Amino acid sequence: MSRIGFKNRDVLTILDFSREDLELLFREAKKMEMYSKSALDILRGKVVALAFFEPSTRTMFSFQTAIQRLGGTALILSDVQRTSIAKGESLGDTIRMLDSYSNAIIIRHKIEGAATYAAEVAEVPVINAGDGTHRHPTQAMVDLYTIWRERGNIHGLTVGVLGDLKYGRAATSFILGIMKYRLRRLYLISPPELRLKSEIKEILDKYGVQTTEVSNIEDVVNELDVLYVTRIQRERFPDPAEYERVRGSYRITLKTLENVKEDLMIMHPLPRVDEILPEVDGTKYAYYFKQARYGVPVRMALLKLVLGD
Ligand code: NCD
Repeated sequence: MSRIGFKNRDVLTILDFSREDLELLFREAKKMEMYSKSALDILRGKVVALAFFEPSTRTMFSFQTAIQRLGGTALILSDVQRTSIAKGESLGDTIRMLDSYSNAIIIRHKIEGAATYAAEVAEVPVINAGDGTHRHPTQAMVDLYTIWRERGNIHGLTVGVLGDLKYGRAATSFILGIMKYRLRRLYLISPPELRLKSEIKEILDKYGVQTTEVSNIEDVVNELDVLYVTRIQRERFPDPAEYERVRGSYRITLKTLENVKEDLMIMHPLPRVDEILPEVDGTKYAYYFKQARYGVPVRMALLKLVLGD
């Protein structure tokens, strides 16, 4: 897909963005790193609504910080009990209000397709900050930026994605983003119960992307340039017994890393629970806190490209 630009565009899935779009975003994000502690006036006079119907730490606060650093104002809806939703107002009506008060709406919701629905209702651009188990495009942008920024290139790498590939929207969005690059190999590492959904496999097939499914991280960890770890999405399991069967089924420890490549990057969208032990945090392989920091410049760049003059 050739570049069709970001201006006034909805950001619903990473699939809509070409490699050229992403490279433009990355170049902007790198410039934005200079302003991570000061203010610009790119969004002066603009209001961006943050409609968070599900818990969030990094995504919400990095967007809020990005809006402020660009000189805009954030309108925050995160405590549903204090809005008219508690009185029974529908999502559509709530979005219509935010549409009339703001220049863009950033939405996180537990229902898959909620952001797409919001984009149909709203005239202003809508950015998906996570819809159920479905998509999380801005997380994928941050993740890909982290590799691009730290390695200079994404092509040719051997990448492993470990964890809950069934319910994890960050994991699937990362896979759908990184498949745009010519990897040497893409390993999908998960307990058999948490394998990638057939819907995503069909997309990979359509794009001709080869993957290798494995169950144990130990079998492939020494080959990897990037290991992307995710937590098991406990809150998404329809049956708690299903969760109990897989909990604690993988864990990255110092022992796991004994023979890995010197420049292995371990990434994680966070929050982590117990899948990376804190003993790994001090190693040169741990990139997850840096990755979270890149959330601000990448989201600044995205807002600039979508909303800037
Ligand atoms: C992820 C999410 O919300 O999908 N977190 C994030 O946005 N950084 C991953 C997760 O919750 O496991």
